[in-house]
Amino acid sequence: MKNILCIGAGYVGGPTMAMIAKKCPEYTITVVDINEDRIQKWQSDTLPIYEPDLKPIVEETLNKNLFFSTDVSGNISKADIIFVSVNTPTKTFGIGAGKAADLQYWEKTARQILTHSNSNKIVVEKSTLPVRTAEAMERILNSHDKGVHFEVLSNPEFLAEGTAIRDLMNPDRVLIGGHNSKSGQEAVSELVKIYAHWVSPEKILTTNLWSSELSKLVANAFLSQRISSINAISALCEATEADVEEVSKAIGTDSRIGSKFLNASIGFGGSCFQKDILNMVYLCEYYGLSEVANYWEQVVFMNNYQKQRFVTRMIKSMFNTVVDKKIVILGFAFKANTGDTRESPAIDICKQLLEERASLTISDPKAVKNAKKDLEQFIDQIEFELDPYTAATNAHALAILTEWEEYKSLDYKKIFDTMIKPAFIFDGRNILDHQKLFDIGYNVYAVGKPELSHL
Ligand code: UDX
Ligand code: ADP
Repeated sequence: MKNILCIGAGYVGGPTMAMIAKKCPEYTITVVDINEDRIQKWQSDTLPIYEPDLKPIVEETLNKNLFFSTDVSGNISKADIIFVSVNTPTKTFGIGAGKAADLQYWEKTARQILTHSNSNKIVVEKSTLPVRTAEAMERILNSHDKGVHFEVLSNPEFLAEGTAIRDLMNPDRVLIGGHNSKSGQEAVSELVKIYAHWVSPEKILTTNLWSSELSKLVANAFLSQRISSINAISALCEATEADVEEVSKAIGTDSRIGSKFLNASIGFGGSCFQKDILNMVYLCEYYGLSEVANYWEQVVFMNNYQKQRFVTRMIKSMFNTVVDKKIVILGFAFKANTGDTRESPAIDICKQLLEERASLTISDPKAVKNAKKDLEQFIDQIEFELDPYTAATNAHALAILTEWEEYKSLDYKKIFDTMIKPAFIFDGRNILDHQKLFDIGYNVYAVGKPELSHL
């Protein structure tokens, strides 16, 4: 019987450990966090995060071989394998502010592990970290003479929110990086043994430590680059009356390009993409590779441009002013099927509209609580309304900012009848039937498509 500990009970730690608990009944898994409220919620009827299909797995394993606790130090001493999945946000201060990773939570965790360890441990980096963090980690852990051996591994998480359980259950690959030494390879085997409970061997890739750390950053950089590329093309489509969906389809059928991740949008959000790219940009600058840094930084510039472009198009089409106009925001989460709003493009779009003195009514099935926090300083200018029909009454415009399934099947005729005319709809996710909306009477603006306007 082995004891696994996970430090950090967030979007990554919680679902990943629940899956390991389900698949590996012979391991005891404890997830700890300094946030008492989070730990209490993991053990309650209302989990701290919304993630489809997660709840039954937690219910099945909770208090059998999956435990949640705030006792970080006590659980460190009992653990054989420690996953670290604490947050690593972008630094907001000092050297590298706005780009480099803020490693303070990581370092504190490493010191805690050192203080409370009396037996050998495998320490697994689960959070996304800059390349060679494992080295810093090892330096801290080995700054002692306790006779305890620490072996550091990198095992980046590739799950996407909203599909976390599917991604964990059936991953494209599991990546494990470790040292080439005997103890390094033994530790890698220990971790492979865990995943081998449900992942086929050819999908478990083992690499050196630095390749594993870098691969995580590169995977997110490539994915977000695809989105910025298609979003750049969406601007060209709007200028030329080409249709970005037709272009995506046409290029995506080339098997070398592939069809996934080519949906033009208001821009990517989420806790990883921007953070990881900027992290990589910072690393490139650190190594004197300014051309490489500039190349990747463009992906983030394009993403910001896309958000700003969307707002500009809204204002321009609504006769160059949105002052006191009621605009209904349908969807605030950074993508569908999550309540998470970290780096959601909706934040910047709403802020820009609020600065233009629009009056916003925000609706989202899962993210209203987070939206209230994100827009705290504008709270007097905003209403929150869960029911889209009530929200839309007397509105000048609707803006779809998250691709929630339920927005596809709203009765847009009924909504149109309650709106102020001319009525506008801005589909920031290209999920609606635009011709049908136009026929109802809306002026329709979708990303990367010619406008459908009665004006
Ligand atoms: C991402 C990676 O996919 C995952 O592998 C990694 O572990 C964490 O970061 P996540 O941020 O949860 O996952 O969601 P993802 O599905 O990648 O979407 C990120 C953003 O891109 C969302 O805002 C989404 O709406 C946007 N997006 C995605 C597009 O705008 N167009 C697309 O074609 C795909
Ligand atoms: P991710 O999306 O990477 O999982 P989250 O922010 O959702 O990130 O989760 C990280 C968690 O790590 C948070 O719940 C935070 O409270 C926790 N955390 C940060 N530092 C520590 C620490 N030193 N000990 C225990 N938990 C920590």
